[in-house]
Amino acid sequence: MYDSNPTLEGIKTIDEIKQGSVFFKDQMSGAGQPGLRKFYIESYGCQMNFSDSEIVASILGDIGYVATRNVEESDLILINTCSIREKAEETVRKRLRAFETVKKERPGAMVGILGCMAERLKKKLLEEEKLVDLVVGPDAYRDLPNLIGGAEDGDRMVNVLLSREETYADISPVRLESNGVTAFISIMRGCDNMCSFCVVPFTRGRERSRDAFSIAAEAADLFEKGYREVTLLGQNVDSYKWENPETGHVVNFAQLLDMTANIHPDLRVRFSTSHPKDMTDEVLHVMARHENICKYIHLPVQSGNSRILELMNRTYDRAWYEDRIRAIRRILPDAAVSSDIITGFCTETEEEHQDTLSMIEWANYSMSYMFFYSERPGTLAARKYADDIPEEIKKRRLNEVIRLQTAISLRHNQQDIGKTFKVLIEGDSRKSAADFCGRNTQNKMVVFPKKEGLKPGEYAMVKIRDTTSATLLGDII
Ligand code: 5AD
Ligand code: SF4
Repeated sequence: MYDSNPTLEGIKTIDEIKQGSVFFKDQMSGAGQPGLRKFYIESYGCQMNFSDSEIVASILGDIGYVATRNVEESDLILINTCSIREKAEETVRKRLRAFETVKKERPGAMVGILGCMAERLKKKLLEEEKLVDLVVGPDAYRDLPNLIGGAEDGDRMVNVLLSREETYADISPVRLESNGVTAFISIMRGCDNMCSFCVVPFTRGRERSRDAFSIAAEAADLFEKGYREVTLLGQNVDSYKWENPETGHVVNFAQLLDMTANIHPDLRVRFSTSHPKDMTDEVLHVMARHENICKYIHLPVQSGNSRILELMNRTYDRAWYEDRIRAIRRILPDAAVSSDIITGFCTETEEEHQDTLSMIEWANYSMSYMFFYSERPGTLAARKYADDIPEEIKKRRLNEVIRLQTAISLRHNQQDIGKTFKVLIEGDSRKSAADFCGRNTQNKMVVFPKKEGLKPGEYAMVKIRDTTSATLLGDII
């Protein structure tokens, strides 16, 4: 049943949260000290990886490393890798070759790979190709000081152990490449879902949820530092579930959202990714109650055909997915929904591909991330099904999906012309320093001419006059 007032035992204000269990140290510990060593980090793949790099930066800060954007002056070169599709892995290999050249110019510099490729390719990268000095899996970042020490002594160091507990709850991320306005907060790690195409359960391990108070404290801390938007991150946020070890009280995702939204009305809250099988009406009602929880849901469908969904082991069918979309429309009539789509999954027929197209049309997604199927070693699909759709057909279907989604995104945006939105200013637009850019509640990027007195981190009311399929254009009113 929907609880109309889920609270976390009354904890509401920033001060109360800050008196909780989590202590935040200075963001740039070690900065400004002489003789510091420098690390350079590149991140690939999902937001979770970028968020992990900020945890790594914090751990490295504690042992005297500071971040640099210049790989040529770094003592430690790190690459936070993604395994989700073959192409991502190829990109990482190319970068490792480039770093080899840098290393030749800088004797003593070390190269490490972090993240999802670590487990799968550790032997190959360390021993056969000798491309790296360090291999560190996503649950082993606390071991970095020790591993770096070993690598400094000339050993090749590996820790790819996955954990059932690690959430890095007590580590205050060092914000890298930050605009000072929006930030990501990791609320859980791993995934227990076993979608048959997906390598994530193997690379990131079992699902576990982070201490709710540490999440709220991180959000409150960001707000105090001037940030105005947090995105709660997890592979499947709807299955967030944290039990307070002291009281036995269980916090679900709806309650966590409520708690984060209560930090301050000017702090926007977003989240990603939702799973259709787990997204509850309770979450939608919490969203409806708080103006500052953005009305945007990333709800990947993957395929519009029930037989393919079954093969994908998504554990819902098309009718179930449509029911979830109807619930969103009913409870949050103005919400935008986006999706992930895979074309050319094993045995997909032309008719089944048409079902994906009709799903995109029916769901009226504001945008989608679209991919052709890429078989990943070790996954359920790789073991059970032949990757039998030729690449040119996968790509042709993908192009059809992209063409349709682009048209629907444009139509979606055109319906916003004449409307006025509250936009959180993130900074200068990419094209012109005379314009600001920021997002509306539906996660649409809005570009508009600057107005004196307004700055990033503030809200502006912007009336939309024109649009492309990707960006709304407007004027402050
Ligand atoms: N091939 C293609 N796309 C994939 N995704 C995950 N695994 C694969 C794969 N093997 C896509 C899914 C997922 C998104 C993060 O990446 O659409 O939702
Ligand atoms: Fe992969 Fe499915 Fe988990 Fe997403 S929910 S990370 S697609 S297994």
